[in-house]
Amino acid sequence: MTQPATPAYGPYLRIDELLACQKPPAFERGFSSGEYRELIHHDEMLFIVIHQAFELWFKQLLHDLGLARDLLGQPEKPESERKVAEEQVPQITELLGRSNEILRLLTDQFTILETLPTTHFLAFRDQLLPASGFQSVQFREFEILGGLKDEDRIQGIGTDYERLLSKEELARLERRRSEMTLKEAAFAWLARTPVAKIFPDFSRVFQDAYLGYHRDMEAFHSRNPNLGSEARKAASERLEADRERLRAYLEDHDPAVCRAHEAFLLITSYRDESLLRWPYVLLDSVIEFESRVRLFRARHVRAVERIIGARVGTGGSAGVDYLDEVARTYKIFGDLLEGRTHILDPGRLPPIPDSELLSFRQL
Ligand code: HEM
Repeated sequence: MTQPATPAYGPYLRIDELLACQKPPAFERGFSSGEYRELIHHDEMLFIVIHQAFELWFKQLLHDLGLARDLLGQPEKPESERKVAEEQVPQITELLGRSNEILRLLTDQFTILETLPTTHFLAFRDQLLPASGFQSVQFREFEILGGLKDEDRIQGIGTDYERLLSKEELARLERRRSEMTLKEAAFAWLARTPVAKIFPDFSRVFQDAYLGYHRDMEAFHSRNPNLGSEARKAASERLEADRERLRAYLEDHDPAVCRAHEAFLLITSYRDESLLRWPYVLLDSVIEFESRVRLFRARHVRAVERIIGARVGTGGSAGVDYLDEVARTYKIFGDLLEGRTHILDPGRLPPIPDSELLSFRQL
C-alpha cells in the first residue's frame, strides 16, 4: 500500500499562519484590546494584504541589501586571506539588481491600491488610528541601512517616528544605526580605486577638459542669434557656477569623499575600458537604486493623494504635502547623481595615459 504523501508545501511556507494574519486586532481608544475583529468592509482585505505584501518584500530587501553591504564593505585584505570586495563586484551587482527589481514591483503595486475607492477606505480608516506608514519599522531599517541619517530628514515631523515605535522596534533601529551603511560601504569601495595609478593628476586634467567644453559652449552662445546679451551673460554665469560645482565636488569634501567622487568620474567616463566595466555596472546599479527609492516615494504620494486627497494623515502629518516634501528632499546617493552633471562627451575626454593597464590580461 502506498503511503499518503506528506504535505510539504503548506508546512514549509507556513501558509496556514500566513493566511490567518488578515484579521486585524481590535483597537479601543488607540490601544489594542487583545481581540481580533472581523473585517469592516470588503475592501479592508485589499488594504491589509497589500501592506503585508510590502512588508514581506521589505524583508527581502533588508536581506539582500545587508549582504550587498557586507560584501562591499569588507576591509581590503591580502588575496590569500579572503576574497576582496573587488572580486565580488558581480555578486554585489546581482544583489542590487534584484533589490532594484523589488523596488520596481513595489512601485507598480500602488496601481492595485488605487482601485480602493475613497468611500470604501473611509468606511474602515478610523479603525486604523493610530496606525500609520510612519510606524513601518522595516522601512526605517531600509532607509538607515541605505545611509539616510536623521539629519537628512525633515526635522520635527520627519524625525518624530521613534515616538510611535515599541521598545523592540527601537532596539532594531539602534542595531541598524550601529552597522555600516550601504552608502559608507560603497564610498569606501570607491575611494579604494587606484585613480592616481590609472590616471596621474586626473582631477586637474578632467577639470581642464571641462573648461575646454565650457569655452566651446560660450563660443556657441556668443554666435547664437537667439540670445541677447543678458541671456548670454546669464548662460556664462551658469557655466561658471557648474565649473565651481565640479571643483568643489573634487576638492571641497573630506579627502576620502573627494577620492570617491574622483573615482566615480573616472569609472563613468572610461566605462568602456575592460577593467572598469564591472565597477561601472555596479555604480550604475547604485544610481538605479537611488532613482528607484525616489520613484517609490513619489508613487506612494500620488496614490495617497488619489485616495485621501490632501487630508491629515493617520499619523498626524500634513499628508500629501509632507510626503511630497520627503519625496523631493530625501537622498542617499545624491552626490553620485550630481556626478552625472559633470560627465563629458567621450570625444572631449583626455586619453588614459597607459590604457594597457585597464585591458584584460592576455592569456
Ligand atoms: C490607502 C493607502 C495609504 C494611505 C492613505 C497612506 C497615507 C500615508 C500618509 C498620509 C503618510 C504620512 C504619515 C501620516 O501622517 O500618517 C504615510 C506615510 C507612509 N506610508 Fe503610507 N499610505 C497608504 C499606503 C501605504 C502602503 C501600501 C505602504 C507600504 C508599506 C505605505 C508606506 C508608508 C511609509 C513607509 C510611510 C512613511 C513615510 C515617511 O515618513 O517618510 N503606505 N502614508
